[in-house]
Amino acid sequence: MSQFHYQDGELHAESVKLADIAASVGTPFYCYSTAKLTQNYQNFSDALGGLNARLYYSLKANSNQAVIKTLAGLGAGADVVSVGEMYRALKAGISAGDIVFAGVGKTRDEMAEALKAGIYQFNVESVGELRALNEVAVSLGKRAPVALRINPDVDAKTHAKISTGKSENKFGIDIDHAPEIYAEAARLPGIDVRGLACHIGSQLIDIAPFRHAFQKLADLVKALRGRGLAVERVDLGGGVGITYREEQTISFADYTTAVAETVGNLGLKLEAEPGRAIVGNAGVLVARVINVKEGVSRNFVIVDAAMNDLIRPTLYEAYHQILPLRQPADEAAVTRVDVVGPICETGDQFAEQRPLPPLATGDLIAFGEAGAYGAVMSSTYNTRPLVPEVMVKGDRFEVVRPRQTYDAIIGQDILPSWL
Ligand code: LLP
Repeated sequence: MSQFHYQDGELHAESVKLADIAASVGTPFYCYSTAKLTQNYQNFSDALGGLNARLYYSLKANSNQAVIKTLAGLGAGADVVSVGEMYRALKAGISAGDIVFAGVGKTRDEMAEALKAGIYQFNVESVGELRALNEVAVSLGKRAPVALRINPDVDAKTHAKISTGKSENKFGIDIDHAPEIYAEAARLPGIDVRGLACHIGSQLIDIAPFRHAFQKLADLVKALRGRGLAVERVDLGGGVGITYREEQTISFADYTTAVAETVGNLGLKLEAEPGRAIVGNAGVLVARVINVKEGVSRNFVIVDAAMNDLIRPTLYEAYHQILPLRQPADEAAVTRVDVVGPICETGDQFAEQRPLPPLATGDLIAFGEAGAYGAVMSSTYNTRPLVPEVMVKGDRFEVVRPRQTYDAIIGQDILPSWL
C-alpha cells in the first residue's frame, strides 16, 4: 500500500489524511489513489511493451467513471461483460473501437447493441453463441469481429469460485473442439473471426498455469494456421494476482517472459484484460468502530462497514489487511479479535482472530487492497445505502460517487394498485 502510508502517525492516501475524508463524507467509504492506479497501469503496460500488445482494463473490477476515465487517459481500452459496462466505458471516453465484449451469456439484445456501437471484438464462448451472433449480425447487415474464447483445461490454482480454465468450468470452448468451430466461424457470413481468447482465472499468484495456457494457445494458433485459417489476435485474459497478505505474486518480469516465450513470436496482436492488478491495491475501504464487544470466548470489533459493502471475505474467505487510521504505538499490545459488521448473519465477518492493536468505539480503520471487486460487488442488503467513493490525486480529494440516500433505495419500490 505504498500510496497508502502513515505520515505523522496518520494513514494517508497520497497527501490526504484519510481521517479528513472521513470527517467530510462520513463512514464507510471507498478511497482510490490516482497515483497508484497510474503506476499499476503503466507497470502492466511496460511489461507488455515491445510485444505488440494492448491493455483492455476489465471494468468488472471497478467501474466507477473516475477510475475508467483515469485509465482511458493513460491509453486503456475496456473489457466489458455486459452492455451496461459498455455504456460505462463509452461514457468515460473509451471509444467503441477500444472495447472487447466478453462473457459466457450475452443476450441477442446485447449483441445488437454492441454491434451497432461498433466494438473492437466479441469474445465468443460457445458454438451456440457464435451462431446467434452470426444471425444478429446478418440481420443488422454487419459482421461481428470475433475471438473464440478457448477453455484450455488448465488449473489456475486459485480459489474455486474464481477459477475458470478447467474443462468442468462453464467458460470457453473446449480446446479440442476449437479447430472445427474456428473453421465454422470462418465460413459464417456475419462473423469475422480474428483470433483466440483465454482467461483461466483470477488472483493467480503462480506463473506456471499462465505459461501452460499460453503455450496451448500458441500450439492452437499454429494448428489453425496449418489448416489455412487466419489468426491475427490472441487475448490473454486477466488474472494476474496481487499481494493481499504477504504472498509472493507473479512478477511482471515472469509474466513478460511467459508471454514472449509462448505467443510472443507468432506475429500476433496481443491483448490483455487486467482488472485486479490495476485497481486492487489502489483502493481502501474506511470504516469506523461502532462498538467493541467482549464475548465469552472471543472479542468482537463491530464496525460500520459490512458484507454488503465488501463481500470478498465472506464469499471467498479473502484476507484484507486491517490498518488503524491512527498509527499504533510500537509498544501497543496486540490481541486477537474478530472484526465484524452489523448485518444479521454470522458470515458478516471481515476477519477472524486477527491480531490487532487496541481499538475502541469511534476509531477508524482501513481495509487494504479493496479497490478491486469491492464497491462493484456491494449491495443494499439490510437497506444499507451504497457507500461513497472518493478519489485522491496528490493533496486533493473529491467524491466520485455520493452516499446513496434512503429515499433513493426505498423510492425504487412501487406499490401495486390493490394496496
Ligand atoms: N477477463 C475475463 C474474461 C474475466 O472473467 C476476468 C475476471 C478478468 C478478465 C479480470 O480478471 P482480473 O485481472 O481482475 O483477475 N470477484 C472476484 C473476482 C472475479 C473475477 C472474474 N473475472 C474476487 O473478488 O476475487
